[in-house]
Amino acid sequence: MKAIAYDRFGSSDVLALQELPDPHPGSDSVLVQVKAASLNPVDYKAREGYLQGVIDTVFPAVPGWDVAGVIVKAGLDTPEFEVGDEILAYARKDVISGGTVAELVEVPVRTAARKPEGLSFEDAAALPLAGLTALQTVRRAGVSAGSTVLIHAAAGGVGSYATQLAVLAGARVVGTASEGNHEYLRSLGAEPVAYGDSLVEAARGLAPEGFDHILDFVGNGALDTVPQLLRAGGTVASITDPAARDEYGGHYIWVRPNPEDLAELAQLAADGRLKVEVADVVELAQAADAYRTLEGGHVRGKLVVRP
Ligand SMILES: NC(=O)c1ccc[n+]([C@@H]2O[C@H](COP(=O)([O-])OP(=O)(O)OC[C@H]3O[C@@H](n4cnc5c(N)ncnc54)[C@H](OP(=O)(O)O)[C@@H]3O)[C@@H](O)[C@H]2O)c1
Repeated sequence: MKAIAYDRFGSSDVLALQELPDPHPGSDSVLVQVKAASLNPVDYKAREGYLQGVIDTVFPAVPGWDVAGVIVKAGLDTPEFEVGDEILAYARKDVISGGTVAELVEVPVRTAARKPEGLSFEDAAALPLAGLTALQTVRRAGVSAGSTVLIHAAAGGVGSYATQLAVLAGARVVGTASEGNHEYLRSLGAEPVAYGDSLVEAARGLAPEGFDHILDFVGNGALDTVPQLLRAGGTVASITDPAARDEYGGHYIWVRPNPEDLAELAQLAADGRLKVEVADVVELAQAADAYRTLEGGHVRGKLVVRP
C-alpha cells in the first residue's frame, strides 16, 4: 500500500510517500480501507520526537490517528463489525507506527464507531481526535446550562467542536481567535474576542463577574489570565498545560479513545447539530505540505487527506 511515512524523527521534510507492506488485522482489530484521514498537531509532535518516553515509535512510522473508511478484513474476534461496514475511529495504538495517512490501516475496534449515513467520509475523519478532546474536556470541566465559558483557540480543530458542544449544553461562550475568525466564531454561537494584550480587558467587558469555566486549547501562556478572569469557584481545563491541574486545581486532559463518545459526536454531525469545518482536503502526496500548513498554527477547523 501507499502511505506517508518517516524513517527518523525530524521536521516535515522526513515525510515521504512510501510503498509499505499491507497491514493486517489483529485479534481485536479490523483492516480499514482509508477513505479519509485528518491531521492533528500531535502527529507532528510525535514525528519530531516529543512523545518519546510517553509512547514508543516504530519506524517506518505512518502518522495519523484519525480515520474514516470501510472495513475490508475482520480480525480473529471482532463481532462488533463486519466487512463492508463504514466506520470512523480515533485509531490510537500502543506504539506510533501504522497510522491513518495511508491507503490501509489496522484499527482496534475499541477505538471505532459506525459512520452514520449522511455523514461524508471527509467530515467523519475530521471528528475523532479533536471531537473527542472537545467532548471530554467540556464534560470534565462541568460546562452546563447557564454557565459562562471562555474558550482559548475557539477556531481551531478542538476549539471549533468545544465551542459548539458548550453552546449545545446551554452555556454562553466567549471564544478567542484572530480577527479573521470572529465571524466564524459567531456562526458557531460564540462571542469572539481577540487574543493578545487586549484579551483580559475585552473578556472582562463581556463577563464582568468572571467566567465559570476557562478551557485552554492553545497553551502559550493562555492560562496566565486565569487569576484575572476566573470567578471564585470556577474551573479550568487545559489540553496543553498541566498547570490547569497543578496550579489551578482543575483538569489536564489527554483524550482517550471512546466508541460511545465517538458515536455521539458522529450522530450530532450527521443530524447537522455539530458543524464540521474542513479547511482543506488534499491527496496523499500533498500530506507533507498539509502538515506544514498545520504547523503554522492557524488552520480553521481541520485538514483532511483523501488517499
Ligand atoms: N491533550 C490532548 O488530548 C490534546 C488533544 C488534541 C489537541 N491537543 C493539543 O492542543 C493544541 C490545539 O490542537 P488543535 O487541533 O485545536 O490545533 P489547531 O487546529 O492547529 O489550532 C489552530 C487554531 O489555533 C488558533 N490560535 C493560534 N494561536 C492562538 C492564540 N495565541 N490564542 C488563541 N488561538 C490561537 C488559531 O486561530 P487564529 O488563526 O484565529 O489565530 C487556529 O484556529 C495543540 O497543541 C495540540 O497538540 C492536545
